Amino acid sequence: MQATFQNSTSAGVLTRNHWTNRWAFILVTAGSAVGLGNIWRFPYMTGTQGGSAFVLVYLVCLLAVGLSLLIAEILLGRRGRADGVSSFANVAQASKAHPFWGKIGWIGVISVFCILSFYTVVGGWIMEYMVRAGIGFQGLTPDQASTGFESLLASPGTLITWHTVFVAMTGGVVMLGVTSGIERANRFMMPALLFILIGLLIYSIFSADMPSAWKFMFHFSPEKIDRSVILSALGQAFFTLGLGNGTMIVYGSYLKSETDIARSALYVVVLDTLIAIMASLVIFAIVFAQNLPPGAGPGLLLGTLPLAFASMPAGHFIGFAFFVLVVFAAWTSAISICETLSAVLIERFKLARKKAVALVSVSAWIVGIGACLSFNNWSELKILDLGIFDLLDSLSSKVLMPLSGLMIAIFCGWIVKRELLQDELKLSRTVYRVWEVAIKWIAPLAIIAIFINIFTIKT
Ligand code: TRP
Repeated sequence: MQATFQNSTSAGVLTRNHWTNRWAFILVTAGSAVGLGNIWRFPYMTGTQGGSAFVLVYLVCLLAVGLSLLIAEILLGRRGRADGVSSFANVAQASKAHPFWGKIGWIGVISVFCILSFYTVVGGWIMEYMVRAGIGFQGLTPDQASTGFESLLASPGTLITWHTVFVAMTGGVVMLGVTSGIERANRFMMPALLFILIGLLIYSIFSADMPSAWKFMFHFSPEKIDRSVILSALGQAFFTLGLGNGTMIVYGSYLKSETDIARSALYVVVLDTLIAIMASLVIFAIVFAQNLPPGAGPGLLLGTLPLAFASMPAGHFIGFAFFVLVVFAAWTSAISICETLSAVLIERFKLARKKAVALVSVSAWIVGIGACLSFNNWSELKILDLGIFDLLDSLSSKVLMPLSGLMIAIFCGWIVKRELLQDELKLSRTVYRVWEVAIKWIAPLAIIAIFINIFTIKT
C-alpha cells in the first residue's frame, strides 16, 4: 500500500527517517506532549477552576476526545508517510476522497507557526527564571515577586535576548535531523525530566504540604463543575497533546509500520497526564506549605512559586532544579513544533533540512519579536483588540486548533475508508468500535460545543 505513495511524496518513502524503536517514538511523542501545557498551564488552570472539579473533567475529555484524536493523527501520518499537509493528500487520494480533504493540513500549518512564535517567547521567560533561580530567590518579598515578572515583560532587550536563545536552541536540535537531533535530545531530556520530577515529588512529600495538595486536586467536588470548567478542560486536552497542528502526524510518519499505534498513544497520554499531575502536586504542596494562594492564574509559576522557593528549606537548589525541568519540557515541545513546520518545507518544497529549519526559525523569531514587543514598546498596537502575543495564542488555541481537530475527526470518522483505518490500527473489533464512536461522534460534537461556547461566552 505504501508503495503507491512513492510518487506523491517523492522526497520520501524510501529515504524517510524512522524512530529507532517503539520506545523512542513514545519518548519523543511524550516529549512533544509534555511541555508548558503540563507544568504551567495545567496547574494554574487547576488552581483557578476549582481544583479537583477541573482535574476530573479534564481526565474525561482527555480520554474521550484527546486520545481518539491522537490515535487518528498518528494513523494519518503513518499511512500518509509525509508531512502534516501531504499526509492528508495521500490518505485522501487512497480513499478516493474529494481533493478538499487533502488540503485541510494547511490549517494546522498556520496554527503551529503562531504557536512556535509565542512558545519560544515563553520558553525565554523560563530561561530567565532558571538563571534567577540559579542565583537564588532568597530574600524575595511578595512585592518583588510580582514586580519581578512585570519588570521582565517591561524590558524588551531581555525578552528578545532569551527568545533568540530559545529559538537557536530549538532550531539547532531540529537541524541535526530526526534521529541524531530530535530523538537524541529527547532520549536525554525526557529521562532527566522524570528524574528531577520524581526527586521534587519526594522532597515535597517530606518537606512540603502534600496532604493539602492531594486534597485540593482529588477531593471530589462535582458542584464546582460548570461550563467554564468544561470548556477549559477540553481546550487543555487539545493543547497538552498538541492536537490539530500536524505535529503528531509528522511524528507518526516516522513510525515503523509494525508499531501498535493505539497502545503507544495510550502510553503517551498516561505519561503526559502523570507528569501534569505530579508537577501540580509538587507546585501546590510547595505553595500551600508557605501559605500562598493557589489561584494566581498564569502568574502561579513565575509570581507565586519563586516566593515559596525564597523561604523554604533548600529552596535555592529545589528552585533551580524545578526551572531546569520546565526548560527541558518546553524545549522538547518547541522542537516538535519546529519539526512540524520544517517537514512541510522539506517534503513539499524540497528544501534541504538545514535551509528549511533556518527559514522556519528566522520567521518565527521575527514574529516572536513582535510578541515580545507587545508587552512593552508596542503595547498600544492591537489587532482585533488583542496584542500580538495574545493574538497568536488565541488564534491558534481557540480557533485554528479546534477547527483543524474537527476536520481531522470528520475526515477519519466519515471520509477515510474503513479498511484502511482498520488495517493501520489492527485493533480488536470491540476496541475499534469504541474508537470509531469516539472519532465519529464524541470528538466532533465536543469540538462544536467548544466553538459555540467560545463565541457565546465573553472571552
Ligand atoms: N503539548 C505541548 C505542551 O503541553 C505544546 C505543544 C507541542 C503544542 N506541540 C504542539 C501545542 C503543537 C500546540 C501544537 O506544552
